[in-house]
Amino acid sequence: MGTGTAGTAEGGGRERPIVIVGASLGGAKAAEALRAAGHQGGIVLIGEEHERPYERPPLSKGYLLGTTPREKIYVHPPQWYGENDITLRLGTSVVAIDPAGHTVTLADDGQVAYAKLLLTTGSVPRRLPVPGEEQDGVLYLRRAEDSERIKAVLRPGARIAVIGAGWIGLEVAAAARAAGAEVTVLEAAELPLLRVLGREVAQVFADLHRDHGVDLRFGVQVTELTGTGGTVSGVRLGDGTTVAADAVVVGIGISPATGLAAAAGLEVDNGVKTDQHLRTSDPDVYAAGDAANAFHPLFGKHIRVEHWANAVNQPQTAARAMLGQPDAVYDRVPYFFSDQYDLGMEYVGYVEPGGYDRVVFRGDPATREFIAFWLADGRVLAGMNVNVWDVTDPIRELVRSGRAVDPKALADPGVPLGEL
Ligand SMILES: Cc1cc2nc3c(=O)[nH]c(=O)nc-3n(C[C@H](O)[C@H](O)[C@H](O)COP(=O)(O)OP(=O)(O)OC[C@H]3O[C@@H](n4cnc5c(N)ncnc54)[C@H](O)[C@@H]3O)c2cc1C
Ligand SMILES: NC(=O)c1ccc[n+]([C@@H]2O[C@H](COP(=O)([O-])OP(=O)(O)OC[C@H]3O[C@@H](n4cnc5c(N)ncnc54)[C@H](O)[C@@H]3O)[C@@H](O)[C@H]2O)c1
Repeated sequence: MGTGTAGTAEGGGRERPIVIVGASLGGAKAAEALRAAGHQGGIVLIGEEHERPYERPPLSKGYLLGTTPREKIYVHPPQWYGENDITLRLGTSVVAIDPAGHTVTLADDGQVAYAKLLLTTGSVPRRLPVPGEEQDGVLYLRRAEDSERIKAVLRPGARIAVIGAGWIGLEVAAAARAAGAEVTVLEAAELPLLRVLGREVAQVFADLHRDHGVDLRFGVQVTELTGTGGTVSGVRLGDGTTVAADAVVVGIGISPATGLAAAAGLEVDNGVKTDQHLRTSDPDVYAAGDAANAFHPLFGKHIRVEHWANAVNQPQTAARAMLGQPDAVYDRVPYFFSDQYDLGMEYVGYVEPGGYDRVVFRGDPATREFIAFWLADGRVLAGMNVNVWDVTDPIRELVRSGRAVDPKALADPGVPLGEL
């Protein structure tokens, strides 16, 4: 297939391509999977960013720290798209979907017809709803250029206020400390990552950051971002105090990018709703990655996962499903990772906030070399290995099996995980 005009609504007579909206990790992986599954027809990958698809994890880690060079963040080398006959249309937003006509409309008014449509529109950062949020020096982190803006302010002695002690907040705090900045983290909840990890393990991250000189403040209410001449100078809190800041990084969560789907009449509820084949309420439209709230057969409910592995793997299922393979079902156990200072971790499983009744540690969390397991009714819902490696497969197997385990054996490093 050629470039821009291929598969356009006007290009009648030609076989319609598979169109993917959202040219990031999920979109690029879908294009790759379609070719791997033998699809020989057209593939059009449309993205509003000007960069070819790249990965976001380095943006708060190696790329922000300056240890990962720009050319290492991309999903594929530039020539890969041509070599695989993928029509890559960058710097172009899709503004509407016409499910009946099987077309999408681009911001420049052009239309592209589709046989099947995949939405990998991802998510967008939530804005801080307080006065002063629009000032210079208030920084969010989603795109490569955001990471570059943050990197530019991480200088020795710079006062950086981070709002939100989630993944973005903590990884940015670690990078800021590595750059020699003074960091204050302001979190509404009582501990970092509380909703995901629960109190027992969240405490490990609080201790980690305090040990690295971060001023962590919990249970705070941010009421205003102060400033002079349109540039931020501090964060006003509910108790009337102000934290002085040369820059403020906001990481208070994301919202799935569902506007297109909703306007097209697709079912949307905390993401674009899909079945286990990642098919939306329209049989020719699929969704994957951060934007998809997909029925998960293992958990028997819809879940939306905001992590890298999900954006790598779901598109493979969606690709096969779009090609009519009935066994294409997404039932992988969620997985994610993080790196902060000298702590590296992986997490596999799924726990709703407060959805466990016990945490079992294998190893001492104070040493930051341990595995934590979240249990309910004696079954392992999730496990997280911290500075312990090559254990993801047996933990995933424990989660998937749903079998009851002996907590004493679980805690005993002498008992191989595979034998539980
Ligand atoms: C800084 C950062 C660090 C992260 N680190 C980790 C990590 O360490 N581990 C981990 O597991 N996960 C991490 N994540 C999460 C992970 O990057 C996301 O889960 C993943 O990027 C989701 O991929 P996606 O393709 O679904 O969506 P996105 O990456 O959000 O991409 C969606 C793309 O679609 C485009 N788009 C949206 N609407 C339209 C439209 N209408 N028309 C055209 N294009 C459109 C967007 O511009 C964007 O380029 C991190 C995220 C961030 C931001
Ligand atoms: N290692 C990783 O997996 C990784 C790394 C970076 C980003 N990400 C992804 O990027 C996305 C964004 O990350 P994030 O850290 O912004 O979201 P998050 O949901 O992980 O954390 C948001 C944090 O902000 C807090 N918060 C919310 N409103 C607040 C307010 N008004 N004042 C103070 N605190 C407030 C919440 O209590 C929570 O602790 C997520 O999808 C995340 O999974 C993942």
